[in-house]
Amino acid sequence: MRLNNHEAIGFIDSGVGGLTVVKEALRQLPNERLIYLGDTARCPYGPRPAEQVVQFTWEMTNFLLEKNIKMLVIACNTATAVALEEIKEKLDIPVVGVILPGTRAALKATQNNRIGVIGTVGTIKSEAYKNALKGKAPKTTVVSLACPKFVPLVESNEFGSSVAKKVVSETLNPLQLKKLDTLILGCTHYPLLRPLIQNVMGSHVKLIDSGAETVSEVSMLLDYFDIANSPDYKNEVNDFYTTGSPKMFKAITDEWLAIEDINIQQIRLGGMKHD
Ligand code: DGL
Repeated sequence: MRLNNHEAIGFIDSGVGGLTVVKEALRQLPNERLIYLGDTARCPYGPRPAEQVVQFTWEMTNFLLEKNIKMLVIACNTATAVALEEIKEKLDIPVVGVILPGTRAALKATQNNRIGVIGTVGTIKSEAYKNALKGKAPKTTVVSLACPKFVPLVESNEFGSSVAKKVVSETLNPLQLKKLDTLILGCTHYPLLRPLIQNVMGSHVKLIDSGAETVSEVSMLLDYFDIANSPDYKNEVNDFYTTGSPKMFKAITDEWLAIEDINIQQIRLGGMKHD
């Protein structure tokens, strides 16, 4: 594998959720150039059949491969759960998903071996977290809960509203009596709801942001493959692409990433119809 250190790291998600991973990448890896693609027009992926999520994930991957990325981060749990293995096998660049880093962090954090996982319907149905947690530590009790109402709240930039507060509180209610000491935010959209989730679960429950954990793994792989950008390289442009409305995307990036002069372009993928 011959990769150019100056090429970008690609990030894909069904929408704006992967920006929670990008936020961490901007902090941990300021020398790296990033390219982000959010398939906002087809978000959410959570309720879609696995085959369709695999197809959409390939369409996003192929778009970024044309930009000569040196590493791909599937910054979406739903896509990681069903497409990571296949994509990893076929690509000759490193491919990182968000599920294993989150699993490792949760096992490190738990004291009572009772871990909760919240995610989209697709992620929870795949049992990817449960299998990964049990595979590493069979005695762990895993309590999983799908939260299909969370992603639409984030995509509509409603993540701080009183409606969001009510939805989060009602949805997480079944977890209250499960004696969890650790909860995996198994969807990259959920860190935007983090204060509300923490409030409902209580301060004794450690929340694991699998996206943030993933960036530590990306950093390690850059070193392992010797493809990190040189420290004197000054990164000035990160490119953001969305299949949806650049205006809504910008409202969320402004609030969440606070980057000036952000470059956002709208694109079409695969079978999407042109206007
Ligand atoms: N951000 C995504 C995830 O981590 C997907 C949300 C969705 O499209 O349903 O699962």
